[in-house]
This record gives sequence, C-alpha cells and structure tokens, in this order.
Amino acid sequence: MEQIKFFSGEQIPLEMHKVKIVQKINLLPVEQRKAAMEEAGNNTFLLQNRDVYLDMLTDSGVNAMSDRQQAAMLIADDSYAGSETFTRMANKLREVFGMDYFLPVHQGRAAENVIGQTFVEPGAIIPMNYHFTTTKAHITINGGLVEEIITDEGLKVTSDHPFKGNMDLDKLNGLIDKHGADKIAFVRMEAGTNLIGGQPFSLENLRDIREICDKHGLMLVLDASLLSDNLYFIKEREACCRDMSIREITLELSGLCDIIYFSARKLGCARGGGICVKEEAVFNKMRELIPLYEGFLTYGGMSVREMEAITIGMDEAMDEEIICQGPKFISFMVDELVKRGIPVVTPAGGLGCHVNAMEFLDHIPQNQYPAGALATALYIASGVRGMERGTMSEQRNPDGSEEISNMELLRLAVPRRVFTLSQIKYVIDRLEWLYENRNLVEGLTFVEEPKTLRFFFGRLEPVSPWQEKLVEKFRKDFGDSL
Ligand code: F0G
Repeated sequence: MEQIKFFSGEQIPLEMHKVKIVQKINLLPVEQRKAAMEEAGNNTFLLQNRDVYLDMLTDSGVNAMSDRQQAAMLIADDSYAGSETFTRMANKLREVFGMDYFLPVHQGRAAENVIGQTFVEPGAIIPMNYHFTTTKAHITINGGLVEEIITDEGLKVTSDHPFKGNMDLDKLNGLIDKHGADKIAFVRMEAGTNLIGGQPFSLENLRDIREICDKHGLMLVLDASLLSDNLYFIKEREACCRDMSIREITLELSGLCDIIYFSARKLGCARGGGICVKEEAVFNKMRELIPLYEGFLTYGGMSVREMEAITIGMDEAMDEEIICQGPKFISFMVDELVKRGIPVVTPAGGLGCHVNAMEFLDHIPQNQYPAGALATALYIASGVRGMERGTMSEQRNPDGSEEISNMELLRLAVPRRVFTLSQIKYVIDRLEWLYENRNLVEGLTFVEEPKTLRFFFGRLEPVSPWQEKLVEKFRKDFGDSL
C-alpha cells in the first residue's frame, strides 16, 4: 500500500479510522506504581487494570472492534443447536480459507487441546518454526516433543531479513530422515511467529514445506492466530505477491494446509477460536472432542455475539487498509527506538514492539529474568504494562534446572486501533529514560513458582531494593510529574 506523504516530509502512520467510543484510563504517581507492582508480585499479569495507564500486555481479545462488528452482535441467533450465527461464521471461514469443515472452540489453546489430543501420541515429534507457550504445553501434556526448526536468521535479534519466521527446510528434512515420517504427528507453522517478535514466514517457504509434507504423507497445520500481520508482510515484502489481493494470498496459503486453527482473540478481533479442516476424515477425528470440552458443535464455547463479531472481523482481516494499522504503528515505534540506540527486535514485526532485554540489561543473568525485570521497571517508570517473553516464560527442565530462553524480550503489544500516536510517543520517551538509567535495574527471583505456565501467576521479588532507587531517580528527573 502507498505510504501517505506529508508536506513536511515527516513519516508517521495515519489512522484510517476514527474514534467513536473511548475508555478512561488512569496514570498513577510513580510511588503508587511501585506499590502496585509489589502487590502484583512483580508479575505484570497480576496487575489490576485500574492501575495500568497503557495496557500493552497483549493484543489478545483487546483489539478495538469496528462499528460493523458491534452492530452484528445485535443480530446473534442464540439457539443452542443449529444457530444461524454459526452458519454465517462457518460460511465466512469457508469463503476466506476455502476449507469445507469447521469446528468452533472457545479460544486458540482449546484448538490446541483438540488437535493435541487427536494427533499427538507419546513419543511423537512435532516440527515447527517456533513454539508458542500454550502450543508447547498441549503437545508436551500428550507426550509429544516440540522441535523448533526456525532458520538461524529467525533467532538473530537484529536483522534485515524480511521473513524471520521461515522454517529451515534442511532441518525439516533432517528430522524426517532421523526419526522417520511415522514418528511425526504433523508439521506446524505459526503465522506472525509470536515469541520471536511477531515475525512472518513467506508464501514461498510454506510452499516448500508443503512439498516436503507431500513427499512423506505429513499433515501441515497452520496456527493462524497472527495471520493478518503475516498477510500484510507477505504483500509488502514478497515480490510474487505484490499484485495479489489479501484474499488471494490467503487462499493460496490455506490451499497448502490441512488444518488451520486460530485464536479469534487475535484473528477476527473478537473472542473465540476455530479449527478449519480440509478433509472430512480429519474433521471427524476431532469432532467428538468439541461437545466434550467446548460446547455443542454450533457454538463451541463461544458467545454467539462474539461469533457474529468474528464473522465481520474475518472480512476486515481481508482489508489491507485495516490490517496495515498494527504493523505501521509498530514500525514507527521500532524506528524511533532504534534512532535512540535502544535495542529492539528488527525488522519490525507484527503484534508489538519487542525490546531486547538481554542487551538492554546485559548486566542481569538470565536466571534473574532480565525481561521480567525490565517489565517491572517500565511499569514503574510509566504505568505501561508489557509482558516478559524470555526465560520466565519457559518451563523448568525435569531436573529442576532453568530452561534458558533463546531470547529475553519485553513485548509491548500494540493492540490494533487502540492507542494514539501521542501515547506511543510517551512509551518511547519513558523507554529512553529507562535506558539512560538502566544501570539501576537489577534482577528478580521467584517467591512462588507454579509448575506449568509459571509466568501467568508466579510471584517474584527484586534481588535488591533497586526499585526504590529507580523511583528516587524518577522524582529527581521528573519533579512532581506523573
Ligand atoms: N497461538 C498463538 C500464535 C498465540 O499467539 C496464542 C495466544 C495462542 C495460540 C493461544 O490462543 O490465547 O486464544 O488461547 N497468544 C496470546 C498472547 C495469549 O498474548 O500472545 P488463546
């Protein structure tokens, strides 16, 4: 899409929507922010939203809905079975993905539960470009083993590679040769690869993977939760797709897959999820689990109002002018931080801006969670809530040792059409201040550590009273400013 040019020469993203409904948010004084962080066990998941100024924890279920989505919610058909709302949603997904079969689920991880229980047997191997936390948990709980075979470029924090989410084809062939295709449950590709910074894969890469899958009779499963960002990047960055519409690219991608599942908290900008399936036999294998875990086959645990919103949201996911808003704001934020010398993941991806905590706080060892520490420091400095994506988000090894993460990222999600440019500029300003004062920040240690998905509700404390010093410095530099 053409960049809109300004007479002044300034390059800023321009919103292609206007604000119709707003929510008041609070900015607490820095002392109260420190107290709130303590109360939350130094885990941003445990903060109360009333204490948060800009909530950049996630883009899950918090993207702004459109007027058309809100309007559609009023015509939902709430019959338990055979609802018109389901038919509309199923038809829309058929139109968008060209797959005949659809199973509704209440959110993305529920799809992972159903797929995991159906296809993952003890000892099975699941190659993927990169894992997502809930995906790995569902595969592991069924006795499977995740094999991450992202290209080496994908793990470089700074790069100019346009498709850091690509799978390494040699590694895929190597895994098949080593274990035999029989051991492989399916190959999983994640669009907009979440944990490495919202990085896309290319259409060409997916085509090559399909070829390998065909050769060995393997299923290809796409996690499409972050598909809209990936679609935008394919259109922007992949020469063969420049003249294709987003709808055409989508059909091309989905034609290569056997199963597409998604969290509609991201794709479709509402709350729910789904599994789209190409073949009836594969669909039948999973179908029984829906009434068991989710709800009847025509709602799958979703509210019918949300389903109507997803149906419109899927149409909007095919509109380039709508899906470009996230990546453009993120790219602005990343560029401004790079100008200030602040280490971030490049190139800018989807989902949000990812600050490289390993470099930002290179004096903190990974077993003291530099990304987690940075999340608490940024909240204290600004009231902005981000999310740790590093060692804290990993699960300990069976022998109790830390599984040290490849990257230590502070994810600052940019929910679509939610924040204004001045709010983004505020985050940049406070990050710059924090970077100047990074030597004040130290690590964290667990005081309560759950066994699974510990980052959701584990509680930590600072290894020293460094947060007090940070507050003192804030007061010194900003006077009585919030
Ligand atoms: N797959 C991907 C790529 C995701 O990003 C998520 C969720 C899921 C699956 C699970 O979906 O939350 O609807 O159950 N990501 C959220 C996040 C939690 O904050 O990035 P869910």
